[in-house]
Amino acid sequence: MKKTDANLVFGNWKSTPSTISQAKSFIKRLDSKINKSSKKPLYFLAVPEVFIGELSKISLGSIGSQNISGVKEGQTTGLVTAMQVRSSGADFSIIGHSEVRERGENLNDIKAKVELSLRSKMKTVLCVGEKERDNSGKYLSKIEEDLKSTLSNLDKGLLDSLIIAYEPIWAIGKDVGATPQECFEVIISIKRALSDIFGEKYGKKVKIIYGGTVNEINATSYIEEGGANGLLIGRSSQDVNTFSKIINSCHE
Ligand code: PGA
Repeated sequence: MKKTDANLVFGNWKSTPSTISQAKSFIKRLDSKINKSSKKPLYFLAVPEVFIGELSKISLGSIGSQNISGVKEGQTTGLVTAMQVRSSGADFSIIGHSEVRERGENLNDIKAKVELSLRSKMKTVLCVGEKERDNSGKYLSKIEEDLKSTLSNLDKGLLDSLIIAYEPIWAIGKDVGATPQECFEVIISIKRALSDIFGEKYGKKVKIIYGGTVNEINATSYIEEGGANGLLIGRSSQDVNTFSKIINSCHE
Protein backbone atom coordinates (compact mmCIF):
# COMPACT_ATOMS: atom_id res chain seq x y z
CA MET A 1 0.00 0.00 0.00
CA LYS A 2 1.00 3.59 -0.42
CA LYS A 3 3.16 4.55 2.50
CA THR A 4 2.43 7.68 4.40
CA ASP A 5 3.80 8.68 7.77
CA ALA A 6 0.25 9.24 8.83
CA ASN A 7 -0.67 5.57 9.12
CA LEU A 8 -1.16 5.27 12.83
CA VAL A 9 -1.45 1.72 14.12
CA PHE A 10 -2.89 1.53 17.63
CA GLY A 11 -3.32 -1.72 19.53
CA ASN A 12 -5.51 -2.18 22.58
CA TRP A 13 -4.59 -5.06 24.81
CA LYS A 14 -7.61 -4.58 27.07
CA SER A 15 -7.22 -6.87 30.12
CA THR A 16 -4.50 -9.07 28.62
CA PRO A 17 -1.96 -10.64 29.06
CA SER A 18 -1.94 -12.17 32.55
CA THR A 19 1.55 -11.20 33.68
CA ILE A 20 4.24 -8.58 33.15
CA SER A 21 6.69 -11.25 31.99
CA GLN A 22 4.29 -12.34 29.25
CA ALA A 23 3.84 -8.69 28.28
CA LYS A 24 7.60 -8.09 28.06
CA SER A 25 8.18 -11.18 26.03
CA PHE A 26 5.39 -10.14 23.62
CA ILE A 27 7.00 -6.71 23.13
CA LYS A 28 10.42 -8.23 22.47
CA ARG A 29 8.99 -10.64 19.89
CA LEU A 30 6.92 -7.87 18.30
CA ASP A 31 9.89 -5.53 18.00
CA SER A 32 11.95 -8.28 16.39
CA LYS A 33 9.28 -8.83 13.72
CA ILE A 34 8.49 -5.31 12.66
CA ASN A 35 10.13 -3.49 9.83
CA LYS A 36 12.27 -0.81 11.43
CA SER A 37 13.09 0.99 8.22
CA SER A 38 9.76 2.79 8.36
CA LYS A 39 9.74 6.10 10.11
CA LYS A 40 8.61 6.27 13.70
CA PRO A 41 6.12 5.93 15.28
CA LEU A 42 6.09 2.22 14.47
CA TYR A 43 3.08 1.39 16.60
CA PHE A 44 1.08 2.55 19.58
CA LEU A 45 0.02 -0.02 22.14
CA ALA A 46 -2.46 0.62 24.94
CA VAL A 47 -1.60 -1.80 27.72
CA PRO A 48 -2.89 -2.44 31.25
CA GLU A 49 -1.95 0.63 33.29
CA VAL A 50 0.32 -1.25 35.70
CA PHE A 51 2.48 -2.47 32.79
CA ILE A 52 3.09 0.98 31.28
CA GLY A 53 6.28 1.82 33.20
CA GLU A 54 8.19 -1.35 32.37
CA LEU A 55 6.99 -1.72 28.80
CA SER A 56 7.67 1.88 27.86
CA LYS A 57 11.32 1.30 28.74
CA ILE A 58 11.77 -1.61 26.34
CA SER A 59 9.33 -1.01 23.47
CA LEU A 60 10.34 0.44 20.10
CA GLY A 61 6.81 1.75 19.74
CA SER A 62 4.75 4.05 21.92
CA ILE A 63 3.10 2.65 25.01
CA GLY A 64 -0.12 4.17 26.30
CA SER A 65 -3.09 3.86 28.57
CA GLN A 66 -6.58 2.51 27.80
CA ASN A 67 -8.31 5.10 29.95
CA ILE A 68 -7.50 7.75 32.53
CA SER A 69 -9.35 8.41 35.75
CA GLY A 70 -10.33 12.04 35.18
CA VAL A 71 -9.25 13.11 38.68
CA LYS A 72 -6.63 15.71 39.51
CA GLU A 73 -3.93 15.15 42.09
CA GLY A 74 -5.40 14.90 45.58
CA GLN A 75 -7.41 12.77 47.98
CA THR A 76 -8.90 10.12 45.70
CA THR A 77 -7.89 6.69 46.94
CA GLY A 78 -7.16 4.18 44.23
CA LEU A 79 -7.25 6.56 41.27
CA VAL A 80 -4.28 7.48 39.13
CA THR A 81 -4.08 10.93 37.48
CA ALA A 82 -3.35 11.61 33.82
CA MET A 83 -0.06 13.26 34.78
CA GLN A 84 0.97 10.19 36.81
CA VAL A 85 0.17 7.93 33.85
CA ARG A 86 2.16 10.25 31.60
CA SER A 87 5.14 10.36 33.92
CA SER A 88 5.20 6.56 34.20
CA GLY A 89 5.87 6.38 30.45
CA ALA A 90 2.56 6.67 28.61
CA ASP A 91 2.76 8.59 25.34
CA PHE A 92 -0.96 8.46 24.73
CA SER A 93 -4.30 7.54 26.20
CA ILE A 94 -7.54 6.21 24.81
CA ILE A 95 -10.65 8.00 26.06
CA GLY A 96 -14.32 7.08 25.71
CA HIS A 97 -13.90 3.50 24.54
CA SER A 98 -17.34 1.89 24.31
CA GLU A 99 -16.39 -0.73 26.91
CA VAL A 100 -15.60 2.09 29.37
CA ARG A 101 -18.77 4.03 28.46
CA GLU A 102 -20.68 0.80 29.09
CA ARG A 103 -19.45 0.87 32.69
CA GLY A 104 -21.00 4.29 33.26
CA GLU A 105 -18.62 6.87 31.80
CA ASN A 106 -20.68 9.80 30.49
CA LEU A 107 -20.04 12.70 28.11
CA ASN A 108 -19.02 15.06 30.92
CA ASP A 109 -16.46 12.54 32.16
CA ILE A 110 -15.14 12.09 28.64
CA LYS A 111 -14.88 15.83 28.04
CA ALA A 112 -12.87 16.28 31.25
CA LYS A 113 -10.62 13.31 30.50
CA VAL A 114 -9.85 14.47 26.95
CA GLU A 115 -8.72 17.83 28.28
CA LEU A 116 -6.68 16.33 31.15
CA SER A 117 -5.01 13.86 28.83
CA LEU A 118 -4.09 16.51 26.26
CA ARG A 119 -2.87 18.92 28.92
CA SER A 120 -0.68 16.13 30.30
CA LYS A 121 0.96 16.10 26.86
CA MET A 122 -0.34 12.72 25.78
CA LYS A 123 -1.67 11.99 22.33
CA THR A 124 -5.34 11.41 22.97
CA VAL A 125 -7.54 8.98 21.09
CA LEU A 126 -11.20 9.83 21.52
CA CYS A 127 -13.50 6.93 20.55
CA VAL A 128 -16.90 7.53 19.02
CA GLY A 129 -19.31 5.22 17.24
CA GLU A 130 -22.90 4.12 16.93
CA LYS A 131 -24.50 1.15 18.68
CA GLU A 132 -26.58 0.43 15.61
CA ARG A 133 -27.46 1.96 12.29
CA ASP A 134 -30.77 3.24 11.01
CA ASN A 135 -31.80 3.90 7.42
CA SER A 136 -32.41 7.59 7.95
CA GLY A 137 -28.82 8.26 9.02
CA LYS A 138 -29.65 9.42 12.56
CA TYR A 139 -26.54 7.65 13.78
CA LEU A 140 -24.44 10.15 11.86
CA SER A 141 -26.02 13.13 13.62
CA LYS A 142 -25.65 11.33 16.95
CA ILE A 143 -21.90 10.92 16.39
CA GLU A 144 -21.62 14.57 15.38
CA GLU A 145 -23.51 15.65 18.51
CA ASP A 146 -21.32 13.42 20.67
CA LEU A 147 -18.23 15.12 19.23
CA LYS A 148 -19.68 18.58 19.63
CA SER A 149 -20.57 18.11 23.27
CA THR A 150 -17.20 16.53 24.04
CA LEU A 151 -14.94 18.91 22.16
CA SER A 152 -16.62 22.31 22.14
CA ASN A 153 -14.52 24.77 24.18
CA LEU A 154 -11.39 22.68 23.76
CA ASP A 155 -8.33 24.88 23.20
CA LYS A 156 -7.39 24.72 19.51
CA GLY A 157 -3.75 24.68 20.51
CA LEU A 158 -4.24 21.11 21.76
CA LEU A 159 -5.58 19.71 18.51
CA ASP A 160 -2.26 18.48 17.13
CA SER A 161 -2.36 15.65 19.66
CA LEU A 162 -6.01 14.73 19.26
CA ILE A 163 -7.05 11.64 17.26
CA ILE A 164 -10.62 10.48 16.74
CA ALA A 165 -11.22 6.72 16.56
CA TYR A 166 -14.36 5.78 14.71
CA GLU A 167 -15.42 2.52 16.30
CA PRO A 168 -18.88 1.26 15.37
CA ILE A 169 -19.92 -0.57 18.52
CA TRP A 170 -21.71 -3.25 16.49
CA ALA A 171 -18.36 -4.10 14.86
CA ILE A 172 -16.25 -4.43 18.03
CA GLY A 173 -15.33 -7.95 19.07
CA LYS A 174 -17.25 -9.50 16.18
CA ASP A 175 -16.47 -11.65 13.14
CA VAL A 176 -17.08 -8.93 10.57
CA GLY A 177 -16.08 -5.27 10.74
CA ALA A 178 -17.59 -2.30 8.96
CA THR A 179 -16.93 -2.12 5.23
CA PRO A 180 -14.40 0.49 4.08
CA GLN A 181 -17.35 2.34 2.48
CA GLU A 182 -19.24 2.41 5.77
CA CYS A 183 -16.10 3.69 7.44
CA PHE A 184 -15.62 6.36 4.76
CA GLU A 185 -19.13 7.71 5.15
CA VAL A 186 -18.71 8.22 8.89
CA ILE A 187 -15.23 9.72 8.53
CA ILE A 188 -16.72 12.40 6.25
CA SER A 189 -19.31 13.11 8.88
CA ILE A 190 -16.66 13.32 11.64
CA LYS A 191 -14.62 15.72 9.50
CA ARG A 192 -17.68 17.90 9.05
CA ALA A 193 -18.29 17.97 12.80
CA LEU A 194 -14.66 18.88 13.48
CA SER A 195 -14.83 21.72 10.94
CA ASP A 196 -18.02 22.99 12.54
CA ILE A 197 -16.44 22.96 15.98
CA PHE A 198 -12.97 24.29 15.24
CA GLY A 199 -13.17 25.78 11.74
CA GLU A 200 -11.81 24.01 8.68
CA LYS A 201 -8.15 24.89 9.19
CA TYR A 202 -7.98 23.48 12.71
CA GLY A 203 -10.47 20.66 12.14
CA LYS A 204 -8.16 19.25 9.47
CA LYS A 205 -5.36 18.75 11.97
CA VAL A 206 -7.23 15.99 13.74
CA LYS A 207 -6.43 12.50 12.49
CA ILE A 208 -9.19 9.91 12.26
CA ILE A 209 -8.64 6.17 12.66
CA TYR A 210 -10.92 3.13 12.40
CA GLY A 211 -11.48 0.31 14.90
CA GLY A 212 -13.73 -2.75 15.04
CA THR A 213 -12.71 -6.26 13.98
CA VAL A 214 -9.59 -5.15 12.16
CA ASN A 215 -7.53 -8.13 11.04
CA GLU A 216 -4.60 -8.80 8.74
CA ILE A 217 -6.89 -9.19 5.73
CA ASN A 218 -9.02 -6.04 6.04
CA ALA A 219 -6.53 -3.72 7.81
CA THR A 220 -5.17 -1.71 4.90
CA SER A 221 -8.58 -1.38 3.21
CA TYR A 222 -9.70 1.09 5.89
CA ILE A 223 -6.72 3.28 5.06
CA GLU A 224 -6.77 2.83 1.29
CA GLU A 225 -10.53 2.95 0.70
CA GLY A 226 -12.03 3.92 4.02
CA GLY A 227 -10.28 7.29 4.39
CA ALA A 228 -8.76 6.41 7.78
CA ASN A 229 -5.36 7.68 8.92
CA GLY A 230 -4.83 4.49 10.85
CA LEU A 231 -6.38 1.77 12.97
CA LEU A 232 -7.37 0.91 16.52
CA ILE A 233 -7.06 -2.82 16.95
CA GLY A 234 -8.27 -4.99 19.82
CA ARG A 235 -7.95 -8.77 19.45
CA SER A 236 -5.56 -8.66 16.51
CA SER A 237 -3.10 -6.65 18.60
CA GLN A 238 -3.07 -9.42 21.20
CA ASP A 239 -1.45 -11.89 18.82
CA VAL A 240 2.14 -11.06 18.04
CA ASN A 241 2.18 -12.53 14.52
CA THR A 242 -1.03 -10.86 13.45
CA PHE A 243 -0.17 -7.49 15.00
CA SER A 244 3.30 -7.42 13.46
CA LYS A 245 1.88 -8.27 10.02
CA ILE A 246 -0.66 -5.46 10.28
CA ILE A 247 1.97 -2.97 11.41
CA ASN A 248 4.27 -3.93 8.55
CA SER A 249 1.49 -3.80 5.96
CA CYS A 250 0.43 -0.32 7.11
CA HIS A 251 3.99 0.99 6.81
CA GLU A 252 4.88 -0.56 3.47
P1 PGA B 1 -11.60 -5.66 18.17
O1 PGA B 1 -11.71 -4.51 19.25
O2 PGA B 1 -10.51 -5.27 17.21
O3 PGA B 1 -11.30 -6.88 18.95
O4 PGA B 1 -12.94 -5.73 17.47
C1 PGA B 1 -11.61 -3.17 18.86
C2 PGA B 1 -11.68 -2.27 20.04
O5 PGA B 1 -12.32 -2.59 21.06
O6 PGA B 1 -11.08 -1.19 20.01
